[in-house]
Amino acid sequence: TPEGACAEAVKVAIDAGYRHIDGAFIYFNEHEVGQAIQEKIAEGKMKREDIFYCGKLWCTCHPPELVRPTLERTLKLLQMDYVDLYIIELPMAFQPGESIYPLDENGKLLYYKTDLCATWEDKALEACKDAGLVKSIGVSNFNRRQLELILNKPGLKYKPVCNQVVECHPYLNQSKLLNYCREKEIIIVGYSPLGTCRDGSWWRVNVKLPPLLEDKLLNSIGKKYNKTAAQISLRYNIQRGVVVIPKSFNPQRIKENAEIFDFCLTDEEMKAIDSLHKNERYVELLMWNDHPEYPFHDDY
Ligand code: A2P
Repeated sequence: TPEGACAEAVKVAIDAGYRHIDGAFIYFNEHEVGQAIQEKIAEGKMKREDIFYCGKLWCTCHPPELVRPTLERTLKLLQMDYVDLYIIELPMAFQPGESIYPLDENGKLLYYKTDLCATWEDKALEACKDAGLVKSIGVSNFNRRQLELILNKPGLKYKPVCNQVVECHPYLNQSKLLNYCREKEIIIVGYSPLGTCRDGSWWRVNVKLPPLLEDKLLNSIGKKYNKTAAQISLRYNIQRGVVVIPKSFNPQRIKENAEIFDFCLTDEEMKAIDSLHKNERYVELLMWNDHPEYPFHDDY
């Protein structure tokens, strides 16, 4: 995004009532997010403690000794002394170093030995929480087996509060993972709840799957409530206990995506939307499917 666009969108979002902001070092805009939040605090619109900021540990920073310095770099960019949530962005480690996509001489991504428990445990993420640099710790795109690795780890101090998934929407509703996480009191956070930006250059989105927001059923339910297909998709998720983090740079759509708390879908409508599930991903991450910890080979 052009310089300044992210700061502007965050300010519009805060004015529209958003308080949960989902970020990551690899979005390369944490400095803008931090600047926007500081401006809104200075305007007296809110206090730091009103904001819930989620940051992410990238794949090249899994070794335990890198976890705290990586989080500290994010804090510096944000001009904050803590983040509310810090999560392991993907369960796949890449070779540490300056490059976020480290390549060998043939242009192949350099994977790295992955030890999810070591990244989690007392000298790494758990220690960041104890040091007050983060209030809660979680994971992202972990399948059931990978969650169990952490949950069953001897000496576990803190369990993951959430598992953010790269997509959760009516066409891929994540119901099996959601049920498992409910049992374990782990919150599912849905990235791409609107079916992604459909930009094939962004993590090679599968554009063969039809656009979610053109779905007939979502649009017809929307008509009944005077809402858009986007609002119906978001409402569907929050009504089943999934946290949604829709992304928009457009002020009108930023506001629209927050106007989902003044209506309620019926049980029949929820069931009808459940039946749209296609068990196909927009974000398959196929380019990494030979990584030993590629999460999507398993059913959930
Ligand atoms: P824009 O930034 O122009 O609004 P996701 O959150 O699933 O990744 O979806 C993001 C994509 O959906 C972006 O391309 C965004 O574009 C678009 N988008 C966001 N909100 C809406 C909405 N309410 N209606 C239609 N498209 C939307």
